[in-house]
Amino acid sequence: MKILVVGGGGREHAIIMKLAESPKVEKLYCTPGNGGISRYAECFGVKATDIDGVVALAKQLSVDMVVVAPDDPLVLGMVDALNAEGFMTFGPNKAAAIIEGSKVFSKELMKKYNIPTAGYEVFDDPNKAIEYIKAQNSYPTVVKADGLALGKGVVIAQNEEEAVDAVKSIMEDKMFGESGSRIVIEEFLTGPEVSVLSFTDGNVVIPMISSMDHKRAYDNDEGLNTGGMGTVAPNPYYTEDVAKECMEKIFLPTINAMKAENRTFKGCLYFGLMITPKGPKVIEYNCRFGDPETQVVLPLLDGDLCEIFEAIYNGKLADVKFSWKKEFCTCVVMASGGYPKKYPTGLEMSGMDDKGQVDGAFVYHAGTKYADGKFYTAGGRVLGVTATGATLPEALEKSYKAVDKISFENAHFRKDIGKRAMAAIK
Ligand code: AMP
Ligand code: GLY
Repeated sequence: MKILVVGGGGREHAIIMKLAESPKVEKLYCTPGNGGISRYAECFGVKATDIDGVVALAKQLSVDMVVVAPDDPLVLGMVDALNAEGFMTFGPNKAAAIIEGSKVFSKELMKKYNIPTAGYEVFDDPNKAIEYIKAQNSYPTVVKADGLALGKGVVIAQNEEEAVDAVKSIMEDKMFGESGSRIVIEEFLTGPEVSVLSFTDGNVVIPMISSMDHKRAYDNDEGLNTGGMGTVAPNPYYTEDVAKECMEKIFLPTINAMKAENRTFKGCLYFGLMITPKGPKVIEYNCRFGDPETQVVLPLLDGDLCEIFEAIYNGKLADVKFSWKKEFCTCVVMASGGYPKKYPTGLEMSGMDDKGQVDGAFVYHAGTKYADGKFYTAGGRVLGVTATGATLPEALEKSYKAVDKISFENAHFRKDIGKRAMAAIK
């Protein structure tokens, strides 16, 4: 098969490396890709959000399948456009991608089908929202923009001033554009967070190995929220009992709810969970593979990713056999100094071979460019340095050893990835 992957981050690099293992795969393409991906798949200049451009590219390359990895083209309906032209796809259609595209939709779905989540109210009028905040007078409180906001549309407000500021900047100053014309104000939950990506064809849902993200920029969970500074899999808080409860109360009910709403979900459904004192609850749904969760999940997959994607498209996921390696996988993100705020790009990188790799790890490129045999930084998150091991400390040691071999000016990475997970294991 010839496969085109849409997207250009570490997640897409990890998907491409796993697809490359499949005996079914003959040729891999990626758009827009990045420097590291270009060493394994031919890359093109079409943007991930350019639906017409991607359809035209798929035709030009006469590919057999298109994998749409990022949230925005899925929410915009890229899969629908590709299917209309007869292409096999991986990813939900527009009607199903709304589970991530609108927080109001996802909250109402959970309420209607009794799926455990934080209590909430929806507002389309900033004054009413502020009145509600004042009347509740309970902090922290959580303010969320309805639509996509590059993962930055959530504010945990510690007091009235912060909550009111959040409402104003989202609804009045429109810092996320139309994504903020409605907001959700939500109860603040506590407990460890777990990411569970799942494969689903709309009938069957098969959770992948669990993982733990590290969202804050600095060690000890300090600093601003980022797209994710590192991940470990499996997540020790996701015990067998928790997994069983999640399947009964969250995973199956969600898949069935989407089907009942005529929004059958096919693809990777990501459950962002919090294990609260009252049991697991949904913090968010994503309609796609997580980044950097994918980087630690796919290396542990014992199975053929291409075969899984095909089966999902054909509604035959129940027929595919795969399992998870009894190992640990860790990913340490190397970011540009300054990320998630302003950062420079175009810095020359050293320490990697011509494939963008170092011994003892897989280096998934997130924001790099390749030119004249050299790699240059080209984004906030630059690399996801990933390793597997029989134990969590072993995997972490390998990831950090590889990180030490790579350098670029002002490279920033967290030194405590996996620390919380280690504490939970002991
Ligand atoms: P989201 O983009 O919805 O995943 O939110 C980003 C982060 O904000 C989550 O990973 C949580 O750490 C935090 N968060 C979101 N909603 C809540 C909530 N209701 N209670 C506590 N923390 C939350
Ligand atoms: N790492 C969180 C996400 O992909 O949304």
